Amino acid sequence: MSLRRCHRFISLEGGEGAGKSTVLGVLADRLRATGEEVVTTREPGGTPLAEQIRHLLLDPAHEPPAPETELLLMFAARAQHVRETVLPALGRGAWVLSDRFTDASHAYQGAARGGDAALIATLEREVVGIEPGLTLLLDVPVALGLERARRRGEADRIESEQQAFFERVRKGYLSRAAAAPDRIRTVDASRPQADVARAALAVLEDYLAGAPA
Ligand code: TMP
Repeated sequence: MSLRRCHRFISLEGGEGAGKSTVLGVLADRLRATGEEVVTTREPGGTPLAEQIRHLLLDPAHEPPAPETELLLMFAARAQHVRETVLPALGRGAWVLSDRFTDASHAYQGAARGGDAALIATLEREVVGIEPGLTLLLDVPVALGLERARRRGEADRIESEQQAFFERVRKGYLSRAAAAPDRIRTVDASRPQADVARAALAVLEDYLAGAPA
């Protein structure tokens, strides 16, 4: 089975403190202005069961999952999310905007945690089966992103990792972007929020102008 690229499926990626939620809102408003249905969702999560898995993954209160457990739980949540939320919405012609998708597993569980890249690619192909038509990577230097995230409040389990971990996350994302320039568009997210939102909107306009609906 190869990956099916879905035009109306857009994901947002980036390290901690990249400002994904703000950009997601701006892009959703732009698409809603066309009068079409827009579903915003997130990973891990996006269905009641997948949100429970998110809680298991991110709650610092219980024992930390082994890297293999973390990887499989991310994909378990994603399998549910794809089947219960993403595919039904795409099937009725809606746009789907997801705060993170499979690129996050390549960056976090693969590049940063040292997970087997071939296994992750197999899970992506066999369990997920789809990829976004467009992915916006909000790239921000790690120190700045962590400072923003800290200002936002208490850190979850993954947010409590050391700076070196997030440097590997960032490198992982950037190398995926370099390998898939037709899908992943990188936006400099170190700038003020309004500038980042404007740059992200320009990428979306470009995408809407260039590709078939
Ligand atoms: P969020 O903070 O963007 O909501 O994401 C939750 C955390 O989960 C974040 O630290 C990144 C992490 N994550 C992974 O490690 N792998 C994944 O596949 C996904 C979707 C998220």
